[in-house]
Amino acid sequence: MGDWVYSDIVKEHFLSPRNFMMGDEDQYQYDAEGIVGNPVCGDQMKMYITVIDDKIIDVKWKTYGCASAIASTSALSELVKGKSLDEALQVGPEEITEYLGGLPKHKFHCSVLGHEALAAAIENYRKLT
Ligand code: FES
Repeated sequence: MGDWVYSDIVKEHFLSPRNFMMGDEDQYQYDAEGIVGNPVCGDQMKMYITVIDDKIIDVKWKTYGCASAIASTSALSELVKGKSLDEALQVGPEEITEYLGGLPKHKFHCSVLGHEALAAAIENYRKLT
């Protein structure tokens, strides 16, 4: 894919992000949260998970990140629902970008943000339980 081109899947997820937390997080019930910053650009991502029997049954997120981060985290949130915590941790930036039909090379770092926020939320969940 060219360096300045977003796939149709990226555009679709950016324009209609899945599992995006609208409004106030206090209105949402969740078991653990994780927040990370992207050292490359300074953007931040917050992820909230609900877990039953070691499986992620719901995930919500919010971010200051860019279009690539929004599309990547939207895809990630679809990919990890219903997975065990260990399986969800295996869903990394490569799988996310493949699912999206690729990302411009310079935007690959944006796909790391959601993955790391999810890992932080899972780590927090394991500390709390
Ligand atoms: S530029 Fe910061 S997440 Fe994409």
